[in-house]
Amino acid sequence: MVLTLNQVDFQDLQTKVRINPETYLKFEDGELVTLQNRFSDKTIEIKYDIMLILYPMVNWITVGELCEGWPPEDQQKIKEHLDMLYQSRIVVTSEAELPQKTPSNLPENLGNAVRINVENHHVMLRDSIRMSCFQRAIQNAVTSESIVMDLGAGSGILSFFAARAGAQKIYAVEKRPDMVMVAKKLAKANGFEEQITFIENSSHLLQANEIESKPTVLVSEILGNAIFEENILEFTIDARDRFLAEGGKLIPGALEIMVVPFDSGEVVDKRLEIGELEKIYGFNFDILKTVLTQKPTLKLEDFNPKRYTMMGDPVCVTHLDFYKITSPLFQQSFEFTPMKDGFVDGFCVYFRAIMDEETVLTNSPWAPPTHWTQMVFYFPTKHPVKANEKVAMEMVYDGGITLWFKEDWSV
Ligand SMILES: C[S@@+](CC[C@H](N)C(=O)[O-])C[C@H]1O[C@@H](n2cnc3c(N)ncnc32)[C@H](O)[C@@H]1O
Repeated sequence: MVLTLNQVDFQDLQTKVRINPETYLKFEDGELVTLQNRFSDKTIEIKYDIMLILYPMVNWITVGELCEGWPPEDQQKIKEHLDMLYQSRIVVTSEAELPQKTPSNLPENLGNAVRINVENHHVMLRDSIRMSCFQRAIQNAVTSESIVMDLGAGSGILSFFAARAGAQKIYAVEKRPDMVMVAKKLAKANGFEEQITFIENSSHLLQANEIESKPTVLVSEILGNAIFEENILEFTIDARDRFLAEGGKLIPGALEIMVVPFDSGEVVDKRLEIGELEKIYGFNFDILKTVLTQKPTLKLEDFNPKRYTMMGDPVCVTHLDFYKITSPLFQQSFEFTPMKDGFVDGFCVYFRAIMDEETVLTNSPWAPPTHWTQMVFYFPTKHPVKANEKVAMEMVYDGGITLWFKEDWSV
């Protein structure tokens, strides 16, 4: 009979052994009892009225060997207890089926639509603001004890920062084989090949046993021009939940989505076009006027605030705390306060990535430029606004971002 105990309460060794949901009891005939499924959400304490001597560093312990030399009644009690568990057949599985760790529930092809080639990496490497923000945050977070996961390693630059900061081990996870090849060569040329383990795969397809030691720092620079198109939320939550050690650090630790309303000054009004159709066909198209004009057009561009009339201060729509969020999807109401009477037909959307307490990386159009452009939403109609009268809006991320005026949808 073989007993495995992953977590033992050595404080109270005399009376109890703590069995967590990942604890398995293996029997001589090869059968394995795991408490995983039955009691997945809590730690169970199984009381023993005898003393168990366990070697802290040993995973598999042969109870028979341990029991040797013990009073026969103690041996008997252990066996009875295990038998009792076995009889109740909480869950019986084979060793091959040992649950590794919850597999990712993200779709297999997630992220495949976006391709970042070596020229894009060159552009990113030349973005000194991006580089210095990540470098500083990595230096602040990494110690000689750190195990780092660089999610979306690309050229490997952030892994190199972590290596230079003295990290014990770095898992550089990159799905593109060409970039892994480049990054491996760069690592070798810079003497980091011992510290960095390259894994050529998408993070959500990694198995738990590919990451031997739990990362204590998770760096994810998969921020796109449309903020979320590289699925930073999905991949970060997935890697955090499946790999990050308890109390581990995330870089960035949060993402704020900022919005600023403006008047483009252009006269584009689909309502007028639909009015023309009404005249031609003699139908009432009022609802069409509303429905067809609610959806803004998204352009990724270098937004120049001087070209337009800003109609309000930037608003933080949502603060996505990477330590806490459980779902990548969100629907968030927000308001802006027009600073004058006039019209609003556009919104510039940008991010503030909170790297740590000291550092914020942003692609705000008012901040020094980075390689990121901004997301600019142009509405096909002008919304009249009045100074200081709040305007209610909604933003949704459901795989892509969109926003709308609440008033439009209440019609
Ligand atoms: C924006 S680049 C950043 C590269 C590098 N970390 C840097 O800061 O220069 C993102 C990289 O992550 C890779 N990538 C995106 N999602 C990934 C995922 N889930 N798993 C592994 N690689 C991913 C892309 O192929 C790309 O090379």
